[in-house]
Parts: sequence; structure tokens; C-alpha cells
Amino acid sequence: KKRIVSGVQPTGSIHLGNYLGAIKNWVELQYTYETLFFIVDLHAITLPYDTQQLSKATKVTAALYLACGVDPAKASVFVQSHVRAHVELMWLLSSTTPIGWLNKMIQFKEKSRKTGDENVGVALLTYPVLMASDILLYQSDFVPVGEDQKQHLELTRELAERVNYLYGGRKWKKLGGRGGSIFKVPEPLIPPAGARVMSLTDGLSKMSKSAPSDQSRINLLDTKDEIANKVKRCKTDSFPCLEFDNPERPECNNLLSIYQIITGKTKQEVIEECKEMNWGTFKPLLTDALIHHLHPIQDRYDEIMADPTYLDEVLAEGAKKASDIADVTLGNVYQAMGFLRR
Ligand code: TYM
Repeated sequence: KKRIVSGVQPTGSIHLGNYLGAIKNWVELQYTYETLFFIVDLHAITLPYDTQQLSKATKVTAALYLACGVDPAKASVFVQSHVRAHVELMWLLSSTTPIGWLNKMIQFKEKSRKTGDENVGVALLTYPVLMASDILLYQSDFVPVGEDQKQHLELTRELAERVNYLYGGRKWKKLGGRGGSIFKVPEPLIPPAGARVMSLTDGLSKMSKSAPSDQSRINLLDTKDEIANKVKRCKTDSFPCLEFDNPERPECNNLLSIYQIITGKTKQEVIEECKEMNWGTFKPLLTDALIHHLHPIQDRYDEIMADPTYLDEVLAEGAKKASDIADVTLGNVYQAMGFLRR
């Protein structure tokens, strides 16, 4: 079976963008592939964060994976920091990562601009190397993510090729290894719809956990009233009727796309259904569809959180399975890089 890995940061609340861009697709993929889904807590400390909240947020995120339909009988679900190999491989990979590659990363540039130079930690720069470790440790074939992670995936691929070239092949064989490539070069899986869910208050910026206004996003755990309120107040326009793909109407395209995915309808069906509607008719429809879709997820979330041991068991089991795979890769990398074997 081909292997898939992916993860979400336990920062802020998990929103519709994380769900439609990533988690919802994981659920479909778990039936066909061997899957590992982690909560990337080590990534969550790259910007100033609240130590009192980290472990709670990690649990909430894990519970949401399961509530959204990730099945621990099929997928390994674990916490990144529970598998030591991630950080260890990161150090090894750092030695072959040119700083220039990291300086080019759009997310680094954006986040460091917002944070202000003095407060930017080194980890914000080296973050993509940790992400590459997350992926390469498991010899992953595919990585299902939203559009915003594409550049990090590209770097992961380049890094894998670089390590394979520098340390793999015959050199590695001479050192007693099996030769050939050290890492599989993974491919991103970016969904045709939902890869870039936009903010409710500005159709030109993406929905994000860090946007200051909570009005800009639908969180998976928002109450019915919050959802209704956010949809009611979201940004629209004064064009007649509703349509996809009009560059002058980014909000309209975004809201119709959200509606399309959560109702499971085709684009053509939504065009037919909505082409003569105005915002006053469409907004209640979208609100109902969102509530209808998110409500069962919230019920399952409550059940999972009410059980004092279930989640811990799932995470312990997941970490064990993940470590078994990760340790093999890590051992190979040490060997290929010429370290004294234990
Ligand atoms: P994070 O936590 O920012 O986002 C988690 C996932 O949600 C997707 N996403 C979106 N998709 C569509 N529309 C949006 N508005 C939107 N916002 C976020 C992201 O693309 C992502 O798939 N670096 C990663 C986490 C990570 C990771 C990994 C992912 C660390 N190691 C290894 C895959 C494999 C991140 O910060 O995602």
C-alpha cells in the first residue's frame, strides 16, 4: 500500500479551511492508503504561544481528527513530539539545507514580517526542515495538504533528492547500507476544491487561525448561533445573482465553493440552484448546510472528549506504530551519513 502522512498545528481553533483543505480528504484517503496523521505540536512553538494551552490544544486537535472521521483502526494518529525521530532527523537534514532555500519561503516571510525581527525565533526559519522530516521519516508517497503548503512540499522534495544524491546510492552501500535512495520523494495531494478557503471578511485572503477577527472564519466547534451570525455578517457584494469564478467577486466564489463541498453537490448543480438567488436567499441556505454538516462532528467530538482514556490510548498506539517506521529511516540516515553505529 502507498503511504500518506499529514498534520495540523494545534494553534487556535481548527477551521473550515483546515477541514476542507486537509482533514476531510484524509478521511477519504484512509480507506485506500496506509495513513499516518499527526498533531504537529513542535511546529506550534515557532511563534510566541501559551504554554498553558498547548497540551489542551493538542488533545482538542486530535479529538477533532477522530470526530471528522479519521478512524484509528485504519490510520495511525499521534502527537509529533511523542516520536523523537522527528526532531532528530531535523538536525541531520539541517546540515544539508541551504539557508537560501529557507529564506525564500513565503510563510516565513509573511510570519516574520508580522512578528517583527527581534521576536522571530530561529525555528520559524527552520520550520520547513522539521516539516520535511515529518514527511520523509515515513517514506511517504503522498501528502494531502491545502494550497498554502505547496511550497513547503516542494522544499521537502528538493531536500529528499539532495540527501539521496549526497549520501545515498553506492556511497551508502560502501558504508554497509543497502544502497539506493535513502528517502522516497513525496508528492503533494492538493484537492481540486477546497484547497484555498478564503476569509469570510475578505475574499482575497485565506481563512486562517491567526487572523485577529474570529468573524473571518468558521471554526469546527462554533455553535449554531455563531455560524448563523458569521454567515449573516460575512462580506458579500452588490452584483445581481450568484456566480463562480468571477475575479471581481472573490467572496461569491468562496461562499459558493464552500456550499458546494459541504453539500457534496457538483459545481453544475450549485450553478443551477443558485444562479438566480440573491444573498438574502443564499445565506440561510449556506448556514443550514454548515450546521447540518458540522453538527454531527461536534456531537462525536463531545463523546470523545467525555471519555477519560480513549484518546490517550489512540495516541499511544499511534505513536508506537509511527516510531517503528520512523526509527528504521532514522537509522538508515545515520548510517548513510557515516555515523558510528550503536
Ligand atoms: P496548518 O496547521 O497551517 O494547516 C493544516 C492544514 O490545513 C490547510 N489549510 C487550508 N486549506 C484550505 N484553505 C485554507 N484557508 C487553509 N488553511 C490551512 C493547510 O494547507 C494544511 O494542510 N506546516 C503545516 C503542518 C505540517 C504538515 C507536516 C502538513 C507540519 N508537518 C507534514 C503535512 C505534512 C501547517 O502549518 O498546517
